[in-house]
Amino acid sequence: MGKLRLGVNIDHVATIRNARGGRHPDPVRAARLAAQAGADGITAHLREDRRHISDDDIRRLIEEIDLPLNFEMAATEEMLEIALRHRPHAACLVPEKREERTTEGGLDVAGQHNMLAPYVRALDKAGMRVSLFVEADPRQLEAAKSLGAPVVELHTGAYCEAEGEERRAHLDRLRKAASEAARLGLECHAGHGLTFDTVGAVAAIPEVMELNIGHFLVGEAIFGGLDSAIKRMRALMDQARSGALGVRSA
Ligand code: PXP
Repeated sequence: MGKLRLGVNIDHVATIRNARGGRHPDPVRAARLAAQAGADGITAHLREDRRHISDDDIRRLIEEIDLPLNFEMAATEEMLEIALRHRPHAACLVPEKREERTTEGGLDVAGQHNMLAPYVRALDKAGMRVSLFVEADPRQLEAAKSLGAPVVELHTGAYCEAEGEERRAHLDRLRKAASEAARLGLECHAGHGLTFDTVGAVAAIPEVMELNIGHFLVGEAIFGGLDSAIKRMRALMDQARSGALGVRSA
């Protein structure tokens, strides 16, 4: 079982900043702190409507932060041009609708194969590690494979929102999808909605190599600080990974 990486998503530091339109709190400062607290990477989603992360945040994250940047983006000409200009370590293609509050479902890679293909090719050719954010559905994994994307990120939102039996069923789907991704030769990541309570079971899935976590960490930072929230998340991930938690029961 490889080391599980933690990508800290700093979008919602920018959400709080933008509520007043000034410079505070600065997401780049949060990224610097995340690096010190044990994050392996920084994730930021430059949305079409710029509701949180700004173009200048992306520029500064590239210039000022040593950790690899995972640039989440919609498959649009505008975002492709920005990704090619900055060449972050990784580009994660996500679905994006203006009216949604957050990224509500995975990409329909199977249905949008032709539309996505040129984006995957261009990002890959420019040296970025391309990932596709998908539901835990074997059809989407096969489509991702046929597009030539090296990485899939499994959407954990439904698992995190569900409870009891339903949560266990979602977890089972995530486990099967992670194993199928590995069988297809895809590197498997996961994220969305993860909390201290839900992270362990996902961290324990051996094929999952990276978790991207944001909203909960920024929320927890209000109560105990970002440093302590990240360190606790990191510790829960590491414990689950080494089998120290009763993780099989979600
Ligand atoms: N992974 C992807 C692809 C996402 O779009 C998001 C949300 O921007 C996350 C992970 C992080 O989700 P959350 O902020 O709920 O932890």
